[in-house]
Amino acid sequence: MEVLDALAKARLLPLLTVRGGEDLRALAQVLREEGVGLLEITLRTPQGLEALRVLGDSGLLLGAGTVRSLEEAKAAMAAGARFLVSPGLKEAVACLAQEEGVPYFPGVLTPTEVERALELGLSVLKFFPAEPFQGAQVLRAYAEVFPEVRFLPTGGIKEEQLPLYAPLPNLLAVGGSWLLAGDAASIRGRIRRAKALLRLPAQ
Ligand code: 3PG
Repeated sequence: MEVLDALAKARLLPLLTVRGGEDLRALAQVLREEGVGLLEITLRTPQGLEALRVLGDSGLLLGAGTVRSLEEAKAAMAAGARFLVSPGLKEAVACLAQEEGVPYFPGVLTPTEVERALELGLSVLKFFPAEPFQGAQVLRAYAEVFPEVRFLPTGGIKEEQLPLYAPLPNLLAVGGSWLLAGDAASIRGRIRRAKALLRLPAQ
């Protein structure tokens, strides 16, 4: 599947909350040039949907983040989102995404939540918020008991934590907003350092 392949290749899921003033085109160009083919744009601000539309022709696989209702999921897909991410598990969103054939990555923390997601046919899950809940340690334990699940740990992760996540067998990609802070040159530097820490070849 396209989105999963892109995540597996990039091992990073950059996350953007648009607040106005960002140069979205320049950002998309840096991501493409650095081999990160995806971008999650959160719906935390009203500009999120518009950014999905603006970047529709950017060549990136765009997803909507912080999807908290069925209405938001529908609006995000109409604006061009190719995948959906939620902080928690929204069953109505899971059903819609399944009907539409759109990958959905709900947030989970506990084993019971992982089990519920699996019952709904979901096996790629966001682990959120990762750092306050010792994400690397928890995911190592989950690798033993839920070997069929791959995770997108997100929340509070920065460069310094990447060596903890890099060796996890169930890591699909690390998500976070830290990658996209600052100007194009800083973003490029952060992506390169992150890839090195995740032991990925430079572009
Ligand atoms: C999210 O919406 O997934 C998180 O807020 C991302 O967390 P971060 O901003 O700490 O990377």
